[in-house]
Amino acid sequence: MSRIFSGIQPSGDLHIGNYLGAVKNWAQLQHRHESIICIVNLHAITVPYEPRELSSRTWEMAVSLLAAGLDPEHCTVFVQSMVPQHTELSWIFNTITPLGELERQTQFKEKAQRQESVMAGLLNYPVLQAADILLYRADLVPVGEDQVQHLELSREVARKWNARFSPQQDYFPEPKPLLTVTRRIMGLDGQTKMSKSMGNTIGLLEEPAAIWEKLRPAMTDPKRVRRTDPGTPEVCNIYQLHKAFSAPATVEHVAKQCSTAGWGCIDCKKVLLESMTGEMGPIRDRALELRARPGRVEEILQGGAEHCRLLAQETMRQVKEKMGLP
Ligand code: AMP
Ligand code: TRP
Repeated sequence: MSRIFSGIQPSGDLHIGNYLGAVKNWAQLQHRHESIICIVNLHAITVPYEPRELSSRTWEMAVSLLAAGLDPEHCTVFVQSMVPQHTELSWIFNTITPLGELERQTQFKEKAQRQESVMAGLLNYPVLQAADILLYRADLVPVGEDQVQHLELSREVARKWNARFSPQQDYFPEPKPLLTVTRRIMGLDGQTKMSKSMGNTIGLLEEPAAIWEKLRPAMTDPKRVRRTDPGTPEVCNIYQLHKAFSAPATVEHVAKQCSTAGWGCIDCKKVLLESMTGEMGPIRDRALELRARPGRVEEILQGGAEHCRLLAQETMRQVKEKMGLP
């Protein structure tokens, strides 16, 4: 069975873009692959942050992932800083990663632009990501399209390390991205990708009333001005959300009602709210249960880290042996 590894930053609450684009996919993959999912708090500290906030966000992310369907029986969930070998292997990879490759990374250039002073950790972010993946010699990495360039770097690190230190047999497999089929989810403004930094998100754990407050004014088909104008479902962001949350028959019905002006946009949004509540209600309930049992969450994270430390220790033993490091 091939092994998958993926990571998510503990940056704010999980929104439905993260859920549809990543987490839901992981919850399905866990039944077909040996799965390891990491909350990457060491990546999160490469930009300015508040320690207390980071710690509560890390906790909230664990609760959200478990509530969204990651099952400790099928999937190892852990926090990156609890397995010290990530940083150890990252240092080693820093010694074989060309500076030029790091400076070329799109995400680095974007993030660096927004900082007053750029720290070395931000530049080396993709090296730590390569270490995350290769530490477990994972074959597949389910991520969104924005991570493809980082993954290419991980593959190059694996190739270089193998060529230099393990020429007889490729010790590290070259990890392949497993692109999520879900297209990118647009924000409620219908203009940009749903993302925390744009303030256009719906949280996975939000109450129906709060979701409605956001859905009601959300952008629809911009050409549909009057209630009596027929709409074009394909250009409407609300219709895209129907495709993600509603049953196929409902999606078909919605398209018909929209394109014949049978429904107004508010009617359509009410049905969407119902579909969303149907899927997200049980997730919210599970999150409440988990929050009421912090000891259980702690136990899952400790167990996950313990399992990962064992795998990581073995990798590091072999890596050091091949590199002449006692
Ligand atoms: P981020 O919060 O940007 O670190 O993303 C965490 C995961 O969610 C990554 O795998 C992203 O590709 C995915 N993701 C984030 N925002 C969206 C979105 N609007 N639509 C689809 N997937 C997303
Ligand atoms: N950089 C990834 C993101 O922003 C998070 C991440 C860190 C990751 N390490 C990883 C993803 C390893 C996949 C595998 O989404």
